[in-house]
Parts: sequence; structure tokens; C-alpha cells
Amino acid sequence: MGEQPVRVLACGDVEGRLTALFNRVQSIQKKAGPFDLLLCVGEFFGTTPVAEAEWQQYQSGLKKAPIHTYVLGAASQEVSKYFSIASGCELCENITYLGRQGVFTGVSGLQIAYVSGQEASQEPAPSHCFTSKDLSSLVELLTTNSKFKGVDILLTSQWPKGVWHYGNPPEVDTKTCGSNSIASLADKLRPRYHFAGLEGVHYERLPYRNHVVLLENAQPVSRFIALANVNNPAKKKYLYAFNIIPMRSMDQAELVKQPQDVTENPYRRVTKDKTDAPEPSFTTEEEQPVSQFFFDLTSNQGNRKRPSDGRGRGRGHFNDRDGAKQPRRHPQPTGPCWFCLASPQVEKHLVISIGTHCYLAVAKGALTPRHLLILPIGHYQSVVDLASEVVEEMEKYKSALRSFYKSKGERCILFERNYKSQHLQLQVVPVPLSCCTTEDIKEAFVVQGQEQKMELMEIPEHTDLKQIAPPGTPYFYVELDSGTNSSTTFRSIFLCNLAGRCWPVKQC
Ligand SMILES: *[C@@H]1O[C@H](CO)[C@@H](O)[C@H](O)[C@H]1NC(C)=O
Ligand SMILES: [Zn+2]
Repeated sequence: MGEQPVRVLACGDVEGRLTALFNRVQSIQKKAGPFDLLLCVGEFFGTTPVAEAEWQQYQSGLKKAPIHTYVLGAASQEVSKYFSIASGCELCENITYLGRQGVFTGVSGLQIAYVSGQEASQEPAPSHCFTSKDLSSLVELLTTNSKFKGVDILLTSQWPKGVWHYGNPPEVDTKTCGSNSIASLADKLRPRYHFAGLEGVHYERLPYRNHVVLLENAQPVSRFIALANVNNPAKKKYLYAFNIIPMRSMDQAELVKQPQDVTENPYRRVTKDKTDAPEPSFTTEEEQPVSQFFFDLTSNQGNRKRPSDGRGRGRGHFNDRDGAKQPRRHPQPTGPCWFCLASPQVEKHLVISIGTHCYLAVAKGALTPRHLLILPIGHYQSVVDLASEVVEEMEKYKSALRSFYKSKGERCILFERNYKSQHLQLQVVPVPLSCCTTEDIKEAFVVQGQEQKMELMEIPEHTDLKQIAPPGTPYFYVELDSGTNSSTTFRSIFLCNLAGRCWPVKQC
């Protein structure tokens, strides 16, 4: 479509340094041509006498803003006096205050939602604060239209809490930074661009998606960008230039295009304590001390030897007789389990390495020589049930095995069959590099899948399996590596469709 893009500049906290900002804007416009508007997030006014004097020059008309400038209201008590009314108004020529919260649609059709100030910690909210109720009414206003697809731009002063999840890490204290209500607002409004300030930090998060892959129709992605303060001495970026075609005049296919580096939605995390799924039965037993989770080799070795793999693994979780170490706790099954390391049923002679959360074992009915299993020490049903530290260790085992197989001229195929299984077993099957290409292996899975009436679908990179297969959902998961260069490991993930047609799969 030949629509003209709107040329936009976004800016972090100005704090009264208007002349510095506009000088910078003018030099950019000289180089890159005119922009249509300048959007300012964070605190626009400053509290110093210098800042106040500078503002006087603009207010009196002595100095002029060279571009249509839109600003948010006060984020602190000290500058509330500049915004005597809650609704938007022109503060001086070319500088417009948007208002406490609302939506602004420009002549181009560009839709900009905005929220001034900070989330109130108490009620009634002071004038520089908003409440979650204020934001709910904004959401309602926008989303009552059933055709609502998102907004082009969202401006907030405060960061949305948790926006960094699944993304690149920001330079902020993630414990204290951000507002939950802004996060929920951003989740519901699905802005294509979301700008925020107040943290004195420049942060451009990887774009995130607003739909669940394979389960929902594609939606436009969101980009969150936080900007630093104008003229900050550390020279952090405070001005961001971009072109945007308003979504209302965009082709649907173009609008929902997903960039290569898109990540999972940071606001829709499936965390164990948040899902509606019933808690697994082991939680009540989680408080059991560790000693019983480990098989005891003392009986046949005469002395008390640590059942480690001899490489120092397993430190810290053995219940030393002197009691100096805190025992580690692992979830336990309610009944007998073949794979719980602590269980009497476990076949000890197959175990080859024990970590803190996972262990490695030889497969009993090996498909190929060196077919191994990575298993959690605790009783977890599937990868999507694992705590993050267990996943982390599992990844370490995976990468260690990849290099091991590589040294043998092999690459590995990893798969997990999560169907009526009690205890997660990640199967690691090595195949000679010379036998087949990654494409051959993929093809084999797809063909075999079709024969079993399983529809295997590749899921994109940066996808959290939990998003597609919430705990409790059966799935079959395959992961391949390129086999050529371990540094550029190619991850290809397949998932059976969740309609339940995919079973049974042949037992290995
Ligand atoms: C106000 O902004 C517009 C463009 O955004 C510009 O053309 C105009 O010259 C500005 N006004 C002044 C007084 O500079
Ligand atoms: Zn178990």
C-alpha cells in the first residue's frame, strides 16, 4: 500500500531542558528531513530555577518549539502546578499537554494512547498519579469496539512491570521498576510502539508477540522502548526516530508480519503459582529433607562415599553427617516411580552423572549406542513443569552432550513424549553426522508423524513451550541441532497439535 508513513520522534524525560532538546531536534531535521511530531514521555518540566526560567521563554513566545510536541503530565508532586487541568490543552505554541490518560488520533489516523504520571500507592490518588481503575476505563473505552486490533503508539511515563521477561535485560532494578497496571494496560492495548521514561535508562526490548503461536491468529508485534533523560551526561540515548504507517491504513498481512527476533509476550507468563491448573500432588511433600532422595551406596561400599560422578557434581545436596549443608528439596511422587532418583525402583547401575537438579542415565532399551536420558532428580512430569533452575541445568547437560557427541562424529536428536508420563525423560539419541542432514531428520519426523496421524508443527525461535503447552497439556517435542557448529546450534521444535489426535506414539 502506498500510504505515507508518519515520521515520529519520541523523547525521554525533558526535565525543563527544552532548548537542548529542540536544538537536537533541529539538527536531526536538518540531516534527516522534517518529522511530523515529537512525543515526550516521563517528566517534561524541571524544578530548578534554570528550568523554570527556560520555560518562561517558551510560554511568553520568546522561544518557539520547532515541531508539534506532545507531552505527558506530571509524574511528581513538584511539577503538578504546570498542569492545572486534567484534560489536554496547549501549554504554548506547538507544545500540547495530552492529558492524564486517553487516546489521541492525529489527522493521519495514527492512534496514540497515553497515561501520565505514576501508579498511585494509595487512594485517593494525588494529581500526579493514576489508579488501576483509571486504566481500566481507558481499556474499556478502546476495546469495546470488537474490531479493536491494538493501538499504534502507547506513551506512559512509568515502565510496565516485567516487560523484560523473555527479552533482553534492561539496566534497571527489576525488583522495584515499573507498574503492574501499566503492564496490564500494555497487554490489553497491544501497542505497536510503547515508550516510557522516568528510569534514566535507554532500553529497546526485542519485539514481542501478542498472540500464542499455533493457537491464536497472528497479531501485530509490540516494541517497548525506554528513553533516557534529555542531555544526560552519560550520553544515553534519549531521542528515538521512526516512521510508522497508521495501522488503520495498513494491509492486514503486512501489519501482522513477525520479525525474526520476536519473543514471547512478557505479560502473559505461565508461572506455576498463577495457572488455574490444580497443583501437583507433590507440593505438600516438598518439605521433606533430601537424604531420602539419593540412593545410598554405603551398603555395598562399606564406607560412606558420595554417589557423585567423580567430577564434583552433586556438591551441596548430600545430607552430610555433620549437618553443615542444608539439604536440597526435590518434589516427590505420591506412589512408586522408576525415575525418581530417591526411589527404591531406580536402576542405579544405569545412572552416569548426578547434578544438582538433574541426572544423566543410560537408556534401557537404547535406540542407538550412547542413547542417554536426562532426567530431573525430583518428580516433575514434563519440561513445562520444571522450575527455572532445573531447566537451566538441563540445558547445561544438553550442551555438554552435544559437544560429547560431536567429538564422536555424531549429533543428537532430543525428544520428550509428554503423554501419561509420570516423570520427565528427555531422550537424547545420537546419530552419525554422515548418515543424514537436519532436513532428512525433520522429514523423517514429519512423515512418521503423519503416519501416526500426528501433525508436527515447527514452532519459532524464542518461544516458550509453556505458552503453547501449558502444564497438563500432552505434547511431543523434538529438538535438533545443526550438528556442524555447536556455536550456531539450530533449534527446531515440533509440537503435535493439541486436539488430541496425536496419540499413541510408539513407545521407545
Ligand atoms: C510548529 O511546528 C510545525 C511543524 O511541526 C512547524 O512547521 C512550525 O513552524 C512550528 N511553529 C513554530 C512557531 O516554530
Ligand atoms: Zn518420579
